[in-house]
Amino acid sequence: MTQRRLRTVLLEGELVRVRPIRGDDAPAAFALLHGHPEILDWLIWDGPSVVSELADGYAHWRSDFSDGANYHFAVEDLTAGAFLGAIGLRYEGHEHQGDIGYWIRSDAWGRGFASEALRLVDWLGFRHAESMLHYATVFVGNDASARVLEKRGYTEDPAGAAKVAKHGKLVERRFFSLTRRAWSARDGEWEPRTAVVY
Ligand SMILES: CC(C)(COP(=O)(O)OP(=O)(O)OC[C@H]1O[C@@H](n2cnc3c(N)ncnc32)[C@H](O)[C@@H]1OP(=O)(O)O)[C@@H](O)C(=O)NCCC(=O)NCCS
Repeated sequence: MTQRRLRTVLLEGELVRVRPIRGDDAPAAFALLHGHPEILDWLIWDGPSVVSELADGYAHWRSDFSDGANYHFAVEDLTAGAFLGAIGLRYEGHEHQGDIGYWIRSDAWGRGFASEALRLVDWLGFRHAESMLHYATVFVGNDASARVLEKRGYTEDPAGAAKVAKHGKLVERRFFSLTRRAWSARDGEWEPRTAVVY
């Protein structure tokens, strides 16, 4: 990995805190994901079967984090401190091109949490992790996620549309991306309220 590695990240905006996800986030995340098709139906991942699977995954992602290959963050409500969901920035196999993925607990939708978490992670990638491009794939029909990306300046490339298997069926995915140049023109002057990155 020639890309810069980040060892510690703590970012705060007006609404959310973004920090490395930990094994002890697993019980809260499991309760929000397991048996929640309103979230899992929109993710490529089918979700955890047992809490230990999630705890192992989150603990593993912590070591991935210090490798600089993939960053996995918890999203917390700044006011209440509650665990809201997760957002990831993955470079493994495609250095300088960050693959973005996220989910937010369904009882907190529509309050701007995902949009701000994405803004913070875009800032991190482009300002500190040498990203040239961030991209996300969205199942057709997931208009809320498409809206989150469009609000942050991502544009859709119809040539990037693809099919992927979900629950044994092929579903159509849309491809959205944000270049470094487009991010810089739009958000290059913006700073998080708090940022600890090294
Ligand atoms: C997609 C998701 C992360 C959005 O989280 P959120 O915190 O509610 O997002 P925000 O509040 O920042 O923004 C949501 C936007 O979508 C809009 N929206 C919500 N439902 C919508 C719908 N059915 N059609 C169009 N827009 C919709 C909201 O109005 C808002 O836009 P606005 O600020 O212009 O009003 C959340 O719905 C989720 O976790 N979904 C399941 C998992 C998922 O889809 N992950 C992404 C996979 S690509």
